[in-house]
Amino acid sequence: MQPEQRVFPEAPVWADSGSSRIPFWAYTDPALYRRELERFFYHGHWCYVGLEAEIPKAGDFKRTTIGERSVIMNRDETGAINVIENVCAHRGMQFCRERSGNVKSLVCPYHQWNYSLQGDLQGVPFRRGVKQDGKVMGGMPKEFKPDENGLNKLKVATRGGVVFASFDHDVESLEDFLGPVILSYFDRLFNGRELTLLGYNRQRIPGNWKLMQENIKDPYHPGLLHTWFITYGLWRADNKSELRMDAKHRHAAMISTRGNSGAKNEVTQGVTSFKESMEINDKRLLDIVPEDWWGGPTAVMMTVFPSVIFQQQVNSVSTRHIQPNGNGSFDFVWTHFGFADDTEEMTRRRLIQANLFGPGGFVSADDGEVIEFSQNGFAQKPYHRALAELGGTEVEDTEHMVTETLIRGMYRYWRDVMGV
Ligand SMILES: [Fe+2]
Repeated sequence: MQPEQRVFPEAPVWADSGSSRIPFWAYTDPALYRRELERFFYHGHWCYVGLEAEIPKAGDFKRTTIGERSVIMNRDETGAINVIENVCAHRGMQFCRERSGNVKSLVCPYHQWNYSLQGDLQGVPFRRGVKQDGKVMGGMPKEFKPDENGLNKLKVATRGGVVFASFDHDVESLEDFLGPVILSYFDRLFNGRELTLLGYNRQRIPGNWKLMQENIKDPYHPGLLHTWFITYGLWRADNKSELRMDAKHRHAAMISTRGNSGAKNEVTQGVTSFKESMEINDKRLLDIVPEDWWGGPTAVMMTVFPSVIFQQQVNSVSTRHIQPNGNGSFDFVWTHFGFADDTEEMTRRRLIQANLFGPGGFVSADDGEVIEFSQNGFAQKPYHRALAELGGTEVEDTEHMVTETLIRGMYRYWRDVMGV
């Protein structure tokens, strides 16, 4: 074994070939993180902003974040959806403070500059100054042009009730961005049915944002870490499963079909999180009713790089929005939804199963913790590297889940775009 390199390199160099050995500095270097924001969140990519169901009426808005930049998604009088940057054109204030609401126009409280829902400047107080002793004094210069001083407007794409936006107006179409394979899983979940909003969870996780992408590109851990998954058969190594990626390997889908609930066999042998005798008091948590649109799989977990995860785990469906703030922390916002044609009973079922997820979820609480502990390990020795060599060092779709191929795929793309 080679001795570990004990000094942090001057400029981060990815010493190993391929993408199976990830340097710890990829998670700890603040300068690299700034570059990630520019190259993934602000250029060339579509980022998630929300669901149309969150802003059903004209004037409805939601404030959210792309990377670290605050944005507002709203629905205007024509029914169109706009996404604009939450920075006043005058003095740069993040003027929108409410998380959501309904307004006729956007007003910055500092100097009351007023913008349409499309982000066009429509009012500047005292633009023509004040009259004193018959003379006009002050005001904006005559040549000031309101139409050149609107808010920053993002490019918007919607599909199946989901809203994406990009600061980059030259970005490819959303469909090309997702690619045909991931698009087919996206359309399975968002197949045109009207969505309903069931609720939110929010948490701040003290770890690098990429760890959340990796967590949902890692089918190895759920049947080991999560007592809930292995014990009740929702996700374990002997489930029938497939792993799929887009052509650039940045997005992925983990597809699994529930198998041996409670059964003891070689995949539970010695796994400490498997609790054969564990019984749930509230049986409604496992009251799973198959739905027509599943078409076989009981779970499809999709990672759309860089900003979002789309979850179907039996009857619980949600979006999980990744909002980084610094290289060692991100906010994670879960939007639990349902479908307008759900019965009341199905809505209740989705809500009860949502207890598996979110910051205190029976499953997801584990993930938040391991991400924090991983980040702590990286900070301790940034010159070291993580291994993602389960299933080899190649990047390929598979018909099983005993592989880290999706993580290798993401880092192949990451190295390309980041130039490291
Ligand atoms: Fe997990």
